[in-house]
Order: sequence, then structure tokens, then C-alpha cells
Amino acid sequence: MSRPTLTELACTVLTTADGREKTHISREAAKTWFASVEAGNPLEIGNSQPPNDPSRPNRPELLPPNEVPRRRTGTEKGRIALLHAIAHIELNAVDLHWDIIPRFAHIKMPHGYFDDWVKAADEESKHFNLLCDRLEAMGSFYGDMPAHAGMWRAAKDTAEDFMGRLAIVPMVLEARGLDVTPGMIDLFKRVKDTKTTEALEIIYAEEVGHVAYGSKWFHFLCGRHDKDPKERFHTLVQTYFSGGLKPPFNDEKRAEAGLPLDFYWPMVREKS
Ligand SMILES: [Fe+2]
Ligand SMILES: [Fe+2]
Repeated sequence: MSRPTLTELACTVLTTADGREKTHISREAAKTWFASVEAGNPLEIGNSQPPNDPSRPNRPELLPPNEVPRRRTGTEKGRIALLHAIAHIELNAVDLHWDIIPRFAHIKMPHGYFDDWVKAADEESKHFNLLCDRLEAMGSFYGDMPAHAGMWRAAKDTAEDFMGRLAIVPMVLEARGLDVTPGMIDLFKRVKDTKTTEALEIIYAEEVGHVAYGSKWFHFLCGRHDKDPKERFHTLVQTYFSGGLKPPFNDEKRAEAGLPLDFYWPMVREKS
């Protein structure tokens, strides 16, 4: 029986629309990859082309960021809306981590690079399901309310810039998750929602790894091309993230993930 390539597996995830189905296929793909690695015979990477936009379910309705209703997290309804927004981010993250594999498959990378993104995609799939379970336990579901339309923008902007993709997705966007998640954990602790607190704690712990993978492979490529990592990061953030970065930052977790202070603090745009 012929074996799939890793880029074929990635494209199957990207072209599946339903969230639960996408994450199921994603987790199976991760199992297939790691079983092949453990057997000492990893799947070929291949060269399947990813779609420009991943398939998504008909719902949620996607709205421009300024039209997504504001959340008041003091009410149960507001907390459901917050979990819905995070579930939407997690589903995008599943696609982002699978997309980087075929998108830049023409660039030779060590095996550990593929292991890292497959593991990250598998974890995002788990995160999406944990949040869907919480939404369903609270009488809602993913798709029940509108979500942010701009999430795939970073992927499109960096579709031809490998270092730009690593700088923006894990090292800016996922690092932002490290800044805001402790506040969310506190919010659910205060209302004694233990199950949601536990889900968010799992997510928080695993996201440190994703930022670290970004930093690791960004530094690897800087070494390959004889570039100064800090200068390169600053240039890429200015190119793709012109609004600048917003404090407060979680300096401790960012350090744990291999993001030094002088990478992001100089990128804070002074309010004029
Ligand atoms: Fe996640
Ligand atoms: Fe992540």
C-alpha cells in the first residue's frame, strides 16, 4: 500500500471544512507521522500544494474585526463569547501549523522541524476540541455566534516569506496568547468554573512550546543565511505588523519560549 506524504496529509486537513472533522483528521495525521518516525522510516515530505485559504464550515459567520460584537465577560453569555473567540483562534492555528509544512516544503529543513509543527498542529486540534466541549457543556457550540474574519491574513501576507511566517505567526501572534491567557484563567477561576480553567491551563502550558518552535527555527534560518536574528525580527515585524506590538507582555513565559526582551520591547509603538 502506498504511503501518503506529509504534505498530502497536511492538505487533507486544510481542505476539510467541519471543525470537529478537521481536528479529527489532524490528530490522525499526526499519529501517522509519528508512527512512521518511531518506526525509523518517516513519511516522505512530498510537494503537495496547499490551498490559498483552508476550508471552513458555513458557520460561524465571519465578520470584519470592528463588527464582531464586544464581549462583557462579567456575564455567562460574555464568557461563552470569549470561549467561542478562542475556539476560532485554535481552529485557525490548526490550519496555520499544517499550512507551513506544504507552503515552504521547497526549502530543505531538518526532520525535527516537521516533528515540531505536526506536534503543534496536534495540540491545537486538542485545544479546539477542549473549547468546543466547554461551549457545548454551557449550552452553546462553535458556529453559534459570529467570529473574526481577519485570522488568515497573516498567513496570506507571509505566504512567500518563510522567515516572515515564523516571525509573525508563532513569535508575534502566539506569543500574544501567552500575554493574555493568565487573565482568562483568572476570570474562570473567579467564577469557579474548574473545567474551563483546566482546559485553559493545558492550552497555556502547550502554547509556550509553539512560540519556542517558532523562535528555534527562526534562529536556525538566521544562522543559515548569516543574519542577525534581532535585526531580522525587527524588520519583519515592521513589514508585516506595522501597528507595532502591545504591552503588557508576559516577559517570563516569553523568555521560557526563547523570545528575548530586546526582540519585542523595541517594537512597541509609542501612542502619539
Ligand atoms: Fe492552541
Ligand atoms: Fe499554538
